[in-house]
Amino acid sequence: MLLGFLVVVVGGVGYVAALPVTPTPRETTIINKACRNKQSDIYFLLDSSSSLLPRDFEKVRNFVVSFVEMLDIAPDATRVGLGVFANDFYGQFEFGEHSNKSEVVEAIRRVPHYGGGTYTGKGLLGMRTTGFREGVVRKNATKIGVVITDGRSRHRTNTITEAGQLKDEGVWLFAIGVTRGVDTNELSIFASVPQTDFIRHVNTFGDLTRLTNGLVHRACRLQAPHADNATCGRQQKADIMFIYNAAAMNVTSVMNVQNFTKDVIQAFSMTSGNVRVGVISEGRQGGDIPLSQYIRREDFVQALQHLHKPELAPLLRKARQQGYDPHSGGRPNAKKFAIVFVDDINVSADALWEAHMMRFNDINVYVIGVGLGREKGRVEELSTSQSRFSRFQSYANLRNDTEQQKFIRNLCESV
Ligand SMILES: *[C@@H]1O[C@H](CO)[C@@H](O)[C@H](O)[C@H]1NC(C)=O
Ligand SMILES: *[C@@H]1O[C@H](CO)[C@@H](O)[C@H](O)[C@H]1NC(C)=O
Ligand SMILES: *[C@@H]1O[C@H](CO)[C@@H](O)[C@H](O)[C@H]1NC(C)=O
Ligand SMILES: *[C@@H]1O[C@H](CO)[C@@H](O)[C@H](O)[C@H]1NC(C)=O
Ligand SMILES: *[C@@H]1O[C@H](CO)[C@@H](O)[C@H](O)[C@H]1NC(C)=O
Ligand SMILES: *[C@@H]1O[C@H](CO)[C@@H](O)[C@H](O)[C@H]1NC(C)=O
Ligand SMILES: *[C@@H]1O[C@H](CO)[C@@H](O)[C@H](O)[C@H]1NC(C)=O
Repeated sequence: MLLGFLVVVVGGVGYVAALPVTPTPRETTIINKACRNKQSDIYFLLDSSSSLLPRDFEKVRNFVVSFVEMLDIAPDATRVGLGVFANDFYGQFEFGEHSNKSEVVEAIRRVPHYGGGTYTGKGLLGMRTTGFREGVVRKNATKIGVVITDGRSRHRTNTITEAGQLKDEGVWLFAIGVTRGVDTNELSIFASVPQTDFIRHVNTFGDLTRLTNGLVHRACRLQAPHADNATCGRQQKADIMFIYNAAAMNVTSVMNVQNFTKDVIQAFSMTSGNVRVGVISEGRQGGDIPLSQYIRREDFVQALQHLHKPELAPLLRKARQQGYDPHSGGRPNAKKFAIVFVDDINVSADALWEAHMMRFNDINVYVIGVGLGREKGRVEELSTSQSRFSRFQSYANLRNDTEQQKFIRNLCESV
């Protein structure tokens, strides 16, 4: 395998060297079309824990080699770095350390299998602070991390937090899980979206190389995220949750809220990594009643009445307890915001209590009252202060530009 490859390399270089117009001589034989001249910095982070057998790790190395073979490796095109993790992060080689493909392949062949626990979080931290550190990574390059793991990480929260930081810095993250022991849920939280592009799961290490073509193609088509021209949130980190009770609204109203949310976040600097946004739109877990659950008619009727009750309290409780949790991507050093949409439903004492608890937990509660009649006073009480309460005539009115701008300015002032 290695020998065959080297022959190709030597032949390829001889050919290129004969053409003086090529700025940097490089192997051109098997490069994927999408990768040609692609300015990417691609970092491979490999699980080197004890749960892999030495022959498994060899297959991981083979996979990375097959991946690299299809890239356009050169100082002014694609560069590759690599690190492994087990009990800790162990950097192997950095971007730019090896300037041609054969050197990179040689370096991959030399990567040792360490053994130890699966501290994915430490691996991701190492990838960010060593692999992608300032001065090493090129400003204009598309930054890509490819993480290969066979298990579930120790310190799941840490893994999610570290992956979030990488994404905040504009790194695209591929998550590749091998074997049935993989925590696919964890992969889906730490990979970039859409998941169909960024997550792969295979049952055996031998299956890895089947992924190469598709993944290389996807990786090479990625662009660096556009610089964000939005200005709100440049100064500090902010985690913003939008909260509405979709179960109690019709489709048009839900769309109006979504469109409003879309308009509002235009003003916020997401690509800088400072502002993260999320949505809570269902207060309850199970909104279903299975066939087998009730045998008495009156029990069924009672359960029915509890489904989708247009209550605010469960939504607010869920937002407070789960919305800003590090498991969901919340950051302890970020300022917390909640934007709560409330229409004519009766604001219960429970809801007021939950809103109070949110404020008590340092969440800045903004309330958007929609079409309020007699309930205005109670709805206003939900917000942190009177200035954080806005009123719209109807869901359709959320489109009103003047009112929208007013809301954004108001929110922006404290983000
Ligand atoms: C790759 O780079 C190494 C060291 O810079 C050099 O010795 C070697 O000849 C290069 N190989 C090819 C195929 O260009
Ligand atoms: C990065 O891109 C910008 C705009 O496309 C360009 O002006 C700048 O020279 C590039 N920097 C490098 C180091 O290539
Ligand atoms: C940012 O740029 C986009 C297009 O590049 C533009 O549509 C948008 O209005 C700009 N936003 C701000 C806040 O300037
Ligand atoms: C949806 O709900 C809004 C307000 O709750 C109402 O004004 C609108 O007529 C409803 N639309 C439909 C199609 O029922
Ligand atoms: C939401 O915005 C889309 C376009 O961005 C538009 O087609 C749609 O009609 C809007 N929906 C509502 C309910 O305003
Ligand atoms: C809303 O419910 C509270 C008790 O939860 C009650 O005191 C209040 O009168 C109700 N308001 C309306 C307008 O029904
Ligand atoms: C938007 O709201 C303002 C009041 O804040 C009102 O004067 C204006 O007519 C509204 N515009 C539309 C298009 O409804």
